[in-house]
Amino acid sequence: MSCDCIRENHYVLEVDEARDTLHRTKGPLASFQSSAVRAELFDKLTVSMTEGVVRSSAAAAAPDPVTYERSVYEKGLSFERPPFTFQSLEWEAQAESRMSAESKGYVVGNAGTGETARKNREAFAKWSIVPQRLIKTTRLPDLSTTVLGKTMPFPIATAPVGVQRIFNPMGELASAAAAAKESIPYIMSTASATSIEDVAKANGNGTRWYQLYWPSNQHNDITASLLSRAKRSGFSALFVTLDTYILGWRPTDMDNG
Ligand SMILES: Cc1cc2nc3c(=O)[nH]c(=O)nc-3n(C[C@H](O)[C@H](O)[C@H](O)COP(=O)(O)O)c2cc1C
Repeated sequence: MSCDCIRENHYVLEVDEARDTLHRTKGPLASFQSSAVRAELFDKLTVSMTEGVVRSSAAAAAPDPVTYERSVYEKGLSFERPPFTFQSLEWEAQAESRMSAESKGYVVGNAGTGETARKNREAFAKWSIVPQRLIKTTRLPDLSTTVLGKTMPFPIATAPVGVQRIFNPMGELASAAAAAKESIPYIMSTASATSIEDVAKANGNGTRWYQLYWPSNQHNDITASLLSRAKRSGFSALFVTLDTYILGWRPTDMDNG
C-alpha cells in the first residue's frame, strides 16, 4: 500500500472549507506525515495491521447474543472476568480518560455549549423498545430488513467518523473489520486516516458505503478519483455530507488551538 489516500484526502481537505481540515492538518497524523522516514514506517505498520485485521476478521463469526452471554457466565464459574465492563454507559468516560486533549476535543466536543447534542440525546431517550410478552418464541426476534438493496440482520449501520487513528492506532481498520464481523454496514468517512483500499480489505465481504465531503467544483477531478477508487473497492452506496462547508464553532478544538 502507499500513503496516497492520506495525501489525497489531505489535499481534498485543504481545498475544502470543512471543519475536518483543522483536525487533519493539526492532528498527530500531520506531524507523522511530515517526515519521509515516518511515512515509510507508517506504510509498513499499516500493511501489517491490515493483514492482522483481515486475518482476524476472517476468523469465527460473532456468536449470537444468547450464546455470548452464556459464555461470559461460564467463564465466570472459573473466576475469569471479562476484559471490559458491560456497563456501556461507562465506556465513554473510560475512553475519555485515556485520550489526549486534542483527540478528546474532536471526539467528545460539540458545537457551542452542546445544547443541540443534549436535545438530540433527550429526544432519542423518549423512545423505548416495548417487548411483546405473550408471543411464544424460542428464538430471538427477527429484526432483519433491507436497506439500499442489502439485507441486514438488524437496521444498524456505523455513522461515518473521520481520522480514527487519533484515538486508536488501528483506526478504521479495526472498525471496518468489526462492522463486517457483526454484519453491520460500514460507512467510511472521506476524512479517514486509512486508505479506501485498506479499509475495503479490512471490511472483507462486509457491506460498505462511502461518505463524501464534496470538494469544490473546481476540484471535481479529486471527487471523481475518490469515487472511482471507492467503487473499485466495493463501496456500494454514496452518502454526501452537506453541512461542513462552513467550519462549526467548536470550543474544545479552539481551546486546543
Ligand atoms: C468524532 C466524530 C467524527 C465525525 N466524523 C464525520 C465524518 O468524517 N463525516 C461525516 O459525514 N460525519 C461525521 N460525523 C458525524 C456522524 O457521522 C453523525 O452523523 C453525527 O455524529 C450524528 O450522530 P450521533 O447523534 O449518533 O452522534 C462525526 C461525528 C463525530 C462525533
